[in-house]
Parts: sequence; C-alpha cells; structure tokens
Amino acid sequence: MNELSPRRMRRMRTTAALRALRRETRLSPQDLVCPIFVAEDAVAGPVGSMPGVSRLRVSELEREIESILAAGVVSVLLFGVPTTKDASGTSAYNGDGIVCRGVERIKKLTDRLAVITDVCLCSYMDHGHCGVVREGVIRNDETIELLRKTAVAHAQAGADLVAPSAMMDRQVREIRGGLDAAGLTDVGILSYAVKYASSFYGPFREAAVSKPAFGDRRSYQMDPANAREATAEARLDVAEGADAIMVKPALPYLDVVRSVREAVPEVPLFAYQVSGEYSMIKAAAANGWLDERNAALEALTSIKRAGADAIITYFAKDVSRWLNGSCDFRVN
Ligand code: PBG
Repeated sequence: MNELSPRRMRRMRTTAALRALRRETRLSPQDLVCPIFVAEDAVAGPVGSMPGVSRLRVSELEREIESILAAGVVSVLLFGVPTTKDASGTSAYNGDGIVCRGVERIKKLTDRLAVITDVCLCSYMDHGHCGVVREGVIRNDETIELLRKTAVAHAQAGADLVAPSAMMDRQVREIRGGLDAAGLTDVGILSYAVKYASSFYGPFREAAVSKPAFGDRRSYQMDPANAREATAEARLDVAEGADAIMVKPALPYLDVVRSVREAVPEVPLFAYQVSGEYSMIKAAAANGWLDERNAALEALTSIKRAGADAIITYFAKDVSRWLNGSCDFRVN
C-alpha cells in the first residue's frame, strides 16, 4: 500500500446508503423461524421468564398465525405442552396429541407457512428427560422407537419438517425409516445435530414445563467445551438422512456454526437463538441497560455472518417488523 495514499476504511461508512452497499450480511424475515408453544387449555398462558412469549391454546393460533404472516415470516417451529405426562411419553405420539392438533389447525388456516415440529419426549415424560429412563439411565434404543412414532404422528398431521431434538444416537436414521415406511417420503428432517448441554435453555424449560426431575442432560447433549465433536455429529446426521441440520444455542457457539458450515456444505444450516439468549436481551432492555432492537438485530446478524442460513428466534415477528421498516440499523 502506497504510504502517501493509504486506504481509508471510513469512506464506505459515511452515509446509510454507502453502508448498505458495503454490508456483507443481510437479515431477511424469510431467514427467521418463529417458535410457537401449543398448549392444552389447562397449561396455557404467558411465560414469565420470556416476556412476549405465551403458551397458546389451539383456539388462539389463528391470531398468532395472522401476525406471523403479516410480519413476512414463512416458517414456524411447534412445541407441545401437554397436561398428561407418564414414563413413556405417551401423549407425544398419540394421533390426537397437542402438537398434531396444532399442526392440523395451522395447515387449515394457511398453506403459506412451513410447519416444523420439535420431536422430543421431555415435555411428555413425568421425569422430564428426553428419553426412556431405566435404572437411572437414559436408554437410547428404546427412545428412538418412540421418537419415530412421534415424528410419524406429526408428519401425518401435516408437518413439512420434523425436527428431532432428543440427541439420541441414530434418531435421524430411525425417523427417516419410519417416515418412509408410512409413505411420508416427502416429509423432511431438520436435525438438531449439534445441541449442547446448555444453561441457556433455562427459560424454555419453564415455558415447556420440561425441567428434568433429577440429574441433567449431559449424558446425551454435547459438552460445551467441544467443537470437533460438532462436525462429527453433523456429518453423521447427514449420512443418516437429515435434510437440514442445526447448531444450538447460537451466539455462544458462533465458532461451531462456522466450522459446521464449512465441514458440511451440502445441507442448509439452522442456528437456534435459544430462550436464554432471548431473555437476557429482554431483561437487560427492561432495565434500560441496552437497546432491545439493536441488540437483537446485532445478535441475529452475527449468527448469520457466522454461517447460518436460517435462525430460530423468539424475536422473529418483532425483528421482521423492524426490518420491513428500515434499511439501516445501528450496530454500535
Ligand atoms: C427439547 C428442547 C429444548 C429446547 C428445544 N428443544 C430444551 C432442552 O433440551 O432442555 C431449548 C430451546 C430454548 O431454550 O429456546 N429437548
């Protein structure tokens, strides 16, 4: 570089229009997946630790879907909150379970939304673990059979994608086999391939009433200290038939988002900005400690910059409205 005419980096930052031309990463409402908690009547209502998020009755879905579509969001991720729990998670794979009823309702309301369902057992088990427990051990191979039944029930109700999140080995292969055997060859699998045993799920467990009654999830979810293990998980799930994969949580794991993106380029990569990431911004904003809009946009832009194609976020509706209203946002 010529010393007399050094490159001036600030030139492209002078105006909003120049910054827009210089911008490398752009968020769009279509990148965002909006989570929905569908609840039995007795357990519906606001989630205290997640301001702006509620457990919705099936009868309340219509209003929610209208506002999601109005914001320009094109996909939703459904979680079920049942009233009955037992030791084999029966209410997860009943054909008339809460998630199936939610999917059916949404599909009657619109064909414009991709409907994704979370496939796990923790909210349906009386002990709150993601699998069958015997002698205090979470049993892998018994669990994946129940996950297969759950995924098939969701797909029969009309889900476009099923998203297994239990972190059981070979769950994707088992579910792919179950869907194909039921003639549901067009239903895809979004695998929570890289899911860490994270403390950032705290508020979600209040929302989904899924806190484990004993122990923790470290025998099935990943150790937050590991990154190479993540690319192994991602490759395995693609080999088992995953159509898309996910890294979760998002912001504390941007290095993992990047390394999975590079190691496994053949499928779309989702990242989940989880409940704790959402609630931290909400709580700080409520105290006046940071600006909610700019903090949320900055976090989501960073997740996309790291390599995510799509982001699951509780901010989906709000961020989409903000994006529709302006082309420039303040990052600093
Ligand atoms: C179910 C599941 C969890 C989340 C998504 N699916 C909770 C957990 O593993 O304990 C967390 C989502 C969030 O925190 O927003 N297994």
